[in-house]
Amino acid sequence: MKHLLEVADLGADGIDQVLRLTDSFVEVSGRTIPKVPALRGKTVVSLFYEDSTRTRLSFETAAKRLSADTMSFSVSSSSVSKGEGLRDTVETIDAMGVDAIVVRHKSSGVPWRIASWVRASVVNAGDGWHEHPTQALLDCYTIRSRRGSLDGLRIAIVGDIAHSRVARSDVTAFAALGASVTLVAPPTLLPPSLEGWPVQVCHRLDEVLGGLDVVYLLRLQRERMTEALIPSLREYRTLYGLTAERAGRLRPDALIMHPGPMNRGVEIDAEAAGDARSVITAQVANGVAVRMAVLYLLLGSGADLVAPLPELAAQA
Ligand code: NCD
Repeated sequence: MKHLLEVADLGADGIDQVLRLTDSFVEVSGRTIPKVPALRGKTVVSLFYEDSTRTRLSFETAAKRLSADTMSFSVSSSSVSKGEGLRDTVETIDAMGVDAIVVRHKSSGVPWRIASWVRASVVNAGDGWHEHPTQALLDCYTIRSRRGSLDGLRIAIVGDIAHSRVARSDVTAFAALGASVTLVAPPTLLPPSLEGWPVQVCHRLDEVLGGLDVVYLLRLQRERMTEALIPSLREYRTLYGLTAERAGRLRPDALIMHPGPMNRGVEIDAEAAGDARSVITAQVANGVAVRMAVLYLLLGSGADLVAPLPELAAQA
């Protein structure tokens, strides 16, 4: 595989391969010195045209734990502020001989364009409302590590589906692994067409809450809204927020998930985020190992891995 642009690049077998490889990198991440020489001599650049905390740090940590060199490109302190266009910027970076470009951009499709211009591998770290494949992989990994498999699980993705690249990637990945996915949102926060989406739709959280294996809350992405799509944050919380009271009605073995950043008191209350069934912190921790697996699959030869990583050796 040369690039990871969308979940469909992997399919169910590819997702499974990444998740199995992730187990090895979770083990590496738990070591006193959480580092392997797998990508020594490779360079990974993060090119973020949109704000990010966890995704950017997660990719950079992943690259460093694989012993790759990392470069970070910040739009505000680069020639982009002098008006340099995307293609010139990307070709300049590629000309330096980098091996992977991890890109986040507010416009859908940008990672595909970049992939057509460069020699390096491209990883989509979020393009507009479109896709965020490594988020979907870390979500699958987190669910699988708690529940063994996604097959047959009932998962509700709740909230601002319309503006969410996380929802698009998660739906594809969860459905590929056999889960039954329900989107829970007011009509104004659903995409205009759901044709081809392998989902059910429900407008009332309380209707599905008690039967769920996973409740996945999304942030209200107000920076992407150009008009008022909900009457008020208060009403949104009343109908769709995971309050402590609602968390009390979840099954004892249900999982509470959120991609971050959270708006506490809106889509999720602090008590629910801190509930024993919340795996929100595990999602962040697993994100590093999943991204190690992705970078290793795209760039690694596997030849110089240190023992004991029999699974990695088998992959090589
Ligand atoms: C998400 C994103 O940026 O797409 N965050 C993330 O990557 N963990 C979701 C969001 O911004 O709400």
